[in-house]
Amino acid sequence: MGNMKKLVIYFSMSGTTKKRAQELAELTGADLYEIVPAKAYSKEDLNWVNKKSRCCTGR
Ligand SMILES: Cc1cc2nc3c(=O)[nH]c(=O)nc-3n(C[C@H](O)[C@H](O)[C@H](O)COP(=O)(O)O)c2cc1C
Repeated sequence: MGNMKKLVIYFSMSGTTKKRAQELAELTGADLYEIVPAKAYSKEDLNWVNKKSRCCTGR
């Protein structure tokens, strides 16, 4: 277990999560992998206040 490789996998639209994932990978010596959506999200797609937006309906 102790010699297992570490991997931080993240998805980030605005860069907030990306920054934290980079810090975590740096601190733990892990590799970094970014999840890229097949269909890019627009700003309105990610409007979590709008319950009908793509991010809230899961489409
Ligand atoms: C589905 C979804 C739900 C969210 N819910 C909240 C929330 O409850 N409270 C909040 O402060 N921000 C919420 N946010 C905003 C994100 O946490 C915030 O914009 C963050 O900076 C996104 O970082 P990223 O683009 O690196 O993923 C939500 C965003 C999404 C897409």
